Amino acid sequence: MRLDKFLSETGTATRSESAKAIRRGGVLVNGVAASSPALQIDPETAAVIYNGEPVEYRKYTYIMLNKPEGVVSATEDGRDRTVLDLLPDKLRRLNLFPCGRLDKNTVGLMLLTDNGELAHRLLAPKSHVAKSYRFEAERAISDEDKAALEEGVYIAGGYRTQPSTLSLDEGRKSGVITITEGKYHQIKLMLEAVDNKILKLGRITFGPLVLDGSLARGEWRFLTEQEIKQLESHGRN
Ligand code: URA
Repeated sequence: MRLDKFLSETGTATRSESAKAIRRGGVLVNGVAASSPALQIDPETAAVIYNGEPVEYRKYTYIMLNKPEGVVSATEDGRDRTVLDLLPDKLRRLNLFPCGRLDKNTVGLMLLTDNGELAHRLLAPKSHVAKSYRFEAERAISDEDKAALEEGVYIAGGYRTQPSTLSLDEGRKSGVITITEGKYHQIKLMLEAVDNKILKLGRITFGPLVLDGSLARGEWRFLTEQEIKQLESHGRN
């Protein structure tokens, strides 16, 4: 792989920034200053240092974000801030996108990646990836409503939801709901189907990923190697 491609794919520098750094002697490959942006390197084994910082090669990037309220889970939006606007410039150069959607006023766990194949697989209805959300509802949820929500209720377009699980806190107005599909506004519509209303919604798990409690709203971190492995093997037999 060309050195400048490596530097842009790792989100280290644009091609023109790389060319400048190389001209200044600021890019070392295996301890030797690189002479040209076209230098061929083996991304898996080359030790690359850019302006004094080692560059880690990752074919794909995976980010866990704690989405705050008021940002949209899109890559671009003419009006609102997007989840990508919460990342530093270096990462915004990568072709990252949100894996799945959360409503503008829903908070919590969001996976951002540039691995389209993995995202496609995790989002495919047949993958049945479980997602859990903490919620607060307007009214207490009766045993009857709980049973209906768990078995399936009719939402938009006469669609009946797949089985879900619900655990309620004392007072029965809040708890955790786990669904294995992702219809538009699904949880809000499910609660409406039992004459109730979601007041607050926050995703806490997505497949094997659990929201990192040390991330404040709006903060992000890279997935660990273990989380990446769990995601990649999720749903594979
Ligand atoms: N269900 C909703 O209603 N909204 C979300 O953001 C996610 C699930």
